[in-house]
Amino acid sequence: MLSEEIQMWTEKYRPKTLKEIVNQKEIVSRLEGFVAQKDLPHCLFAGPPGTGKTTAALCLAHDLFREYFYGNFLELNASDARGIDVIRTTVKDFARTMSLGDIPFKILVLDEADALTSEAQQALRRTMERYTRTCRFILIVNYSSKIIEPIQSRCALFRFSRLSKEDIVGMLKFISKNEGVELKDDGVEAVLYVSEGDLRKAINTLQAASALGVAVDADSVYKVTGKARPEEVRQMLELALSGDFVQARKKLHELLINYGLSGIDVVRQVHRETFNINIPEIWKVRIADIVGEIDFRMSEGAHEEIQLSALLAQFSLVGQELGKTQGK
Ligand SMILES: Nc1ncnc2c1ncn2[C@@H]1O[C@H](COP(=O)(O)OP(=O)(O)OP(=O)(O)O)[C@@H](O)[C@H]1O
Ligand SMILES: [Mg+2]
Repeated sequence: MLSEEIQMWTEKYRPKTLKEIVNQKEIVSRLEGFVAQKDLPHCLFAGPPGTGKTTAALCLAHDLFREYFYGNFLELNASDARGIDVIRTTVKDFARTMSLGDIPFKILVLDEADALTSEAQQALRRTMERYTRTCRFILIVNYSSKIIEPIQSRCALFRFSRLSKEDIVGMLKFISKNEGVELKDDGVEAVLYVSEGDLRKAINTLQAASALGVAVDADSVYKVTGKARPEEVRQMLELALSGDFVQARKKLHELLINYGLSGIDVVRQVHRETFNINIPEIWKVRIADIVGEIDFRMSEGAHEEIQLSALLAQFSLVGQELGKTQGK
């Protein structure tokens, strides 16, 4: 058993029944309906990371099977499993045998099903058809469009949405209180900024920051997440746009060194902050265009530091050019 200290809070606070799931109200009520009827179609759960997809599948199975959960429930990760072979063997072996207890079917969850090749999906489709009587499938994906049409049409679709600020704050406060962690207001803001509606990321960030042993504030959060404070990124952006290339580069180095950011991290944050600074629309358009180009070059393996310099250089040029025409 893991000791209390190193237990992951995401696991410790993972809901055990559908009632405990935060938000996703419409989904929860549809799933509760299935539990009440003791019946279930094949399902497709789609949505962004850390919003409760795997949790909902687990809760559903617990609520439905109760003491027969073990034996009737199997979760596979399609991206670990070697594609088609696993569909042919593990899935079939599980799906074709009778369930235990009074529910006449088992539940098989295929996480990250969008990682399956279309060949593997075809095999899966046949398995789903053949064993429908004894097994219901829940496929979990980030994007439903990656699943072949014939499978989509056999599944009830559930779209999970990002969790709201209020939902995340509620959870953070609850956990902090329970764990005796002092959570400052700027810490809450920082966790919200880095987690972007992903509750898993929010909880993990809280746990990591609290492990530094002081109160959780903006400093400790940014220290553990490899993200810069948004205001520092904005500052760098504004320096570059004002034509101060040298100072902007100095700021860039600070970000790279103090926060240990990678080039891609910087570019992504610049992109995000572009829309949070007060500049004319046309500037944002030009910046977005430059950011897109640099992001692409980096993903193709271009030298990060050179690309970041090029990014700031182009911003200064845009700043000078547009500043003149607009008399700024
Ligand atoms: N709606 C929610 N209600 C309560 N807790 C949640 C919710 N969403 C996420 N969590 C928390 O985040 C953790 C991760 O959630 P979960 O595994 O369900 O995410 P997921 O949607 O399956 O993400 P991924 O796409 O990355 O697999 C859970 O253990 C739980 O602590
Ligand atoms: Mg999951």
